[in-house]
Amino acid sequence: MIANVLSIAGTDPSGGAGIMADLKTFGALGAYGMAAITAVVAQNTRGVTGFRVVEPDVLTAQIDAVFDDVRVDAVKIGMVATAEIATAIADALTRHGAKHVVLDPVMVAKSGDRLLAAEAVAAVRDRLLPLAEIITPNLPEAADLLGTEEPSGLAAAIEVAGELKALGPASVLLKGGHGGGPDSTDIYFDGDTLETFTAPRITTKNTHGTGCTLSAALAALLPTMPRLAAIARAKDYVTGAIAASDRLSVGHGHGPLNHFHEVWPAE
Ligand SMILES: Nc1ncnc2c1ncn2[C@@H]1O[C@H](COP(=O)(O)OP(=O)(O)OP(=O)(O)O)[C@@H](O)[C@H]1O
Ligand SMILES: [Mg+2]
Repeated sequence: MIANVLSIAGTDPSGGAGIMADLKTFGALGAYGMAAITAVVAQNTRGVTGFRVVEPDVLTAQIDAVFDDVRVDAVKIGMVATAEIATAIADALTRHGAKHVVLDPVMVAKSGDRLLAAEAVAAVRDRLLPLAEIITPNLPEAADLLGTEEPSGLAAAIEVAGELKALGPASVLLKGGHGGGPDSTDIYFDGDTLETFTAPRITTKNTHGTGCTLSAALAALLPTMPRLAAIARAKDYVTGAIAASDRLSVGHGHGPLNHFHEVWPAE
């Protein structure tokens, strides 16, 4: 089966993050990609220079246009920007009974620019988290959602994964990209099973869009694979895309991942 997968997120005209990264990821992993835009973002590998959030009714119309016509097998939610957008997404996905919802609670870009208004964190937590099959916060986002300090060390991170699960998602993948150490370890918890997914930490500045890419990969794979297998495959895909990023020459800041590393022949 070729899964139809919808990304609800912001844009990146430089192609490495947001909707653009999501569509590349869906395609690379064999899914049919679709996209509804929450915000038009001016950004590149160096940072975000500005963005304009779409009117909530324009976003609702985009989501309705997809669901009214297409069988949607999974949904990835990325940049939400405002509480009104969070509400519009929650209402639409509830109305359409969306399956396999992956929520990447994007708050701050790699460049440090804020992509979710501070006062919108509560709306994401209260309206979107409970709809998600899996949420993929990084360590600072986990702390923001819980109103606590960022955990340091594996034991503290495992505790935080449990606290996030209690907020209502079916499962949590707490990402360790921001942690230190020789490995980048992500922690999975669904209230029952606790699992860690580890890959060697790759030394590169090309990490623009890692989070977008991982969550998009999960959405692409969940319709056709058991959840833990989908996570393992998604992590493997992202690690490979980071490792092959040096083949690209895009921008002067944090460069994009090589989304098609498994597709394009090696030189
Ligand atoms: N240097 C690295 N080497 C290997 N894996 C990495 C590296 N950096 C991040 N990852 C992995 O990439 C995935 C995304 O994690 P990360 O914590 O970077 O997300 P993020 O902070 O949301 O990213 P973004 O800033 O793009 O939104 C995770 O599986 C993480 O373990
Ligand atoms: Mg992120």
